[in-house]
Amino acid sequence: MPQCLICKTPYEPFIDFGKMPIANGFLTAEQFDKEYFFEMKVGFCSNCKMVQLVEQPDREMMFHENYAFFSSTSTRQVQHFKEFADLTAKEHLTLTDPFVVEIGSNDGIMLQNFADVGIRHLGIEPSANVAQAAIDKGIETVTEFFDEKLAQTIVEKQGQADAVLAANVMCHIPYLHSVAAGIKILLKPTGVFMFEDPYLGDIVEKTSYDQIYDEHVFFFSVASISFLFGQHDLEVVDVLPQNVHGGSMRYVIAHKGQKQISQAVIQQQEKEQQLGLHLPETFEKLRQNIEKSREELMNILTDMQKQGKRVVGYAATSKSTTVTNYCGITEEMVEFISDTTPIKQGKFSPGTHIPVRAYNDFCDNYPDYALLFGWNHAQEIMAKEEKFMESGGKWIVYVPSVKVQE
Ligand code: SAH
Ligand code: TMP
Ligand code: ZN
Repeated sequence: MPQCLICKTPYEPFIDFGKMPIANGFLTAEQFDKEYFFEMKVGFCSNCKMVQLVEQPDREMMFHENYAFFSSTSTRQVQHFKEFADLTAKEHLTLTDPFVVEIGSNDGIMLQNFADVGIRHLGIEPSANVAQAAIDKGIETVTEFFDEKLAQTIVEKQGQADAVLAANVMCHIPYLHSVAAGIKILLKPTGVFMFEDPYLGDIVEKTSYDQIYDEHVFFFSVASISFLFGQHDLEVVDVLPQNVHGGSMRYVIAHKGQKQISQAVIQQQEKEQQLGLHLPETFEKLRQNIEKSREELMNILTDMQKQGKRVVGYAATSKSTTVTNYCGITEEMVEFISDTTPIKQGKFSPGTHIPVRAYNDFCDNYPDYALLFGWNHAQEIMAKEEKFMESGGKWIVYVPSVKVQE
């Protein structure tokens, strides 16, 4: 039996997705025969309440000089991180010469806002290509993985931080005890660590199982985060639900006893009890819902195929790798996936090898249906695709439920 990565309690996985490739591993035809796969199983630890991947590929296989995800490709995300940065500056960088550190700073989407106004900052970003994009914009960045040792080095060289920030990266890191110990060292006594990640409550409520892929080793709740940081003399003092990535939660962590615990923390914990995020039955039910979602989506796609309809995937998201591989979607069902990121174009989707093409290929010859892999960007996407819909194009969506939408 696998053991919980947080508290070492043995647990039984509640779902097995089968063999999965690297979600962001868009590849060329020459690379097909050496493609890497791992067995993707997920489990729930009833002791510390952490939901987690049983097995995760080595970190160097996912985060490297060819990392395909550039945060700044989404205008919505640029705006989101500007708001996050502004709030941080206003509420937490009020002492003289403040210092802000970001873990997983990618192409500088968040830190740009501090660099622009001359606030002392440091980005920690192990994927060399995205880190270089930030450095080119004048953002201080080290190309390393964050852990306790790196935290110690930063403190020695630059002192402690007023705020440490992280988005969509904590859930990527299996060695969270080292990270939490690093936060304990890096934060000033009055400092805060604010991070956000896809929220387990949203995944359960929306059956958004495509949040589960190699990089996402954990699916957090207030309960599991409180357990983890509690072991490092830190505590959750506030939580703020975020309407990004299909439902995220921002957690505010401080040294124990330093800040008042907000009402929102208590309320969210109560909500988690109502949702049953502490019960194994909830995850049994989630597995059933995931299987049902797969069946319904495949019924639609095989129907379209029989009718000779053209279906194109919209946005080659990392999440789409789980859906295409788990459901068994082929190039015969989905002609290609349209994506705006240059390094994905001309390549093939991981595992299923569906061609990824430039956005123009979508616009130049609208399909009958677009399979919305970027459902978390639905608002932004629908707003700019009026012409597609005017041409009679329809959307196939699968979160929160499977349906065809005009
Ligand atoms: N914060 C950005 C990027 C999220 S993608 C956003 O929300 O859009 C996750 C990023 O974390 C990747 O760029 C990856 O290279 C980086 N990363 C992965 N493990 C890390 C670690 N241990 N320390 C710091 N960064 C890490
Ligand atoms: P993610 O942020 O959900 O992982 O998805 C990002 C991918 O979606 C990225 O490759 C760019 C692509 N994308 C489009 O192709 N068109 C769009 O309009 C949006 C918002 C994203
Ligand atoms: Zn545990």
